[in-house]
Amino acid sequence: MNTTIGGATKMPNNKTAAEKTFVRGLEGVVAAETNISWVDGIHGKLYYQGYDIHDIAEKVCFEEVIFLLWNGRFPDRSECERLRVELAADMRLPSQVVEMIKLMPPSAHPMQVLQTAVTMLGVFDPDSGDNSAEANLRKSKRLVAQVSTIIADLHRIRRGLPLISADPKLGISDNFLYMLRGNPPAEIEHTVMDLLMVLHTDHGLNASTFAGRVIASTLADIHAALAGAIGALKGPLHGGANQKVMEMIVQIGKVELVQDYIAGMLENKQKIMGFGHRVYRTEDPRARHLRKYSEMLCEMKGFKELYDISHKVETLVRESKGIYPNVDFYSATVQHAMGIPSDFFTAVFAASRTAGWVAHIMEQYSDNRLIRPTSKYTAELGVRFVPMDQRK
Ligand code: COA
Repeated sequence: MNTTIGGATKMPNNKTAAEKTFVRGLEGVVAAETNISWVDGIHGKLYYQGYDIHDIAEKVCFEEVIFLLWNGRFPDRSECERLRVELAADMRLPSQVVEMIKLMPPSAHPMQVLQTAVTMLGVFDPDSGDNSAEANLRKSKRLVAQVSTIIADLHRIRRGLPLISADPKLGISDNFLYMLRGNPPAEIEHTVMDLLMVLHTDHGLNASTFAGRVIASTLADIHAALAGAIGALKGPLHGGANQKVMEMIVQIGKVELVQDYIAGMLENKQKIMGFGHRVYRTEDPRARHLRKYSEMLCEMKGFKELYDISHKVETLVRESKGIYPNVDFYSATVQHAMGIPSDFFTAVFAASRTAGWVAHIMEQYSDNRLIRPTSKYTAELGVRFVPMDQRK
């Protein structure tokens, strides 16, 4: 029975079970089945196809992880080499996309350029219009390769530098650094860049992956789903946090100033970027690896103070709020030490996550049901219509 208030009615009480179980921010709601990855927030564990991230990080290369997520098993040596060669060959962009990147104003955020470029790649893809599983695998390979090139090309275009083609002998993370900076990475940078890619590849049903799966569930194409996922990653509550972390560390400037800065932020109930998580109730397992390499690289590259500031921030936030750093906290100083500008940090995250996003999009297509939840309507019903000339 509806309740009448001033001619209009309140929501009826005969709501469906789904409407009654409304959960703000979908916290804890199970919205998909997946084999790809799982986050155990209580124990601080991340699994890729059942493998604990601590057991594989620093032991496998990015290509092995891509193969694992797409095939459910690790590749043998020849399969891994074949994927590496295919990805290196797929890194070239259509000239129209390069021209579009050149047309973007310097004020455009790299994530805006990336999202636009991915949509445009969909137009020029040789498999455009073909949503078969075989075509989507080919498109997935091209996307993983081309996203890295878009970021490297944008970086060089902004600095007036000539563009560099991928080296067919290199893996994808080495090629990314090579095309971005113009010289092949040193051994330690090779290790760290590959690890950064491995750690960011997938992370359960996070906001951007969910966004990608929602779009895929309408049977829109893989480029449309990926562009949507990139849009979701851009926000500072998700992947955009790594850029904000760097801005905060630079703004603090000195270890002696950390205490007052953090106390001030907490007093004003401001969020400290790079801390907290919807799922983890303990340390994000990815932060452990990145902390180690942040310390090592910052020391080597003359940025020791930046690491020291980060570490002090971590200690204070942990002690005063009981919250832990997430993946974005130490990835900021790791990327900075490799010469990546802070406004590109989230795009680098996207370069890795593309492999995870396309895995989820393909999984969604393989057993699809339209994702269409419902909402809890909170306004009035049956409001009396007043024509324009009678409105006050
Ligand atoms: N700094 C300070 N306090 C934080 C915090 C942070 N980064 N993250 C969470 N908290 C506090 C909240 O203030 C809240 O405290 P209260 O209960 O006293 O009000 C409590 O922890 C729960 O936070 P809430 O925002 O409701 O959690 P959530 O699950 O909705 O949000 C994030 C998760 C990731 C959005 C949130 O932790 C955040 O904004 N972090 C900073 C951005 C970031 O690093 N994002 C990258 C995530 S990988």
